[in-house]
Amino acid sequence: MEKELHIHYHVFENHDALDAETRRLYEAAAKARLKAYAPYSKFLVGCALLLDNGEIITGSNQENAAYPSGLCAERTTIFWSSANYPDAQIKKMFVIGGPENGEQSVATPPCGACRQSVLEYENRQTEPIELYFAAVKGKIFRTGSVRDLLPFSFDSSFL
Ligand code: THU
Repeated sequence: MEKELHIHYHVFENHDALDAETRRLYEAAAKARLKAYAPYSKFLVGCALLLDNGEIITGSNQENAAYPSGLCAERTTIFWSSANYPDAQIKKMFVIGGPENGEQSVATPPCGACRQSVLEYENRQTEPIELYFAAVKGKIFRTGSVRDLLPFSFDSSFL
């Protein structure tokens, strides 16, 4: 039996099409990206979370000479957020990535490991996390939940 999966996502032409609250998050992610420590890949990623207490938490990718010891922007940010605000709900996550010169305009989606990590925190709260991803310029993609980017996901229900 063949089956199909459909995912739902929204595309914004650019950041001018975002509502004011989301545009603030976009700006926070863009600023955070400039603080990335990415001397090896020279691919800078910034992330910003909007919590239900109104706080915006930011982070960026942190690389290491022993390459696998580095960490993506999304996990740097969401781990710090959960460590410091364990009871806050995450409403939105905005990710902006691209090479140092910022020239690329293809939106950077979260890697597989980051999707899995975001899912863990989405499952820990009652509401899904709206996930936005973009390049420095160009189109912005939004999914209503990380589940759209991670079908057949593994979570605590299997344990
Ligand atoms: N990177 C992220 O920060 N997030 C992603 O979802 C994709 C990749 C970082 C990891 C590494 O520092 C650089 O981008 C190149 O892979």
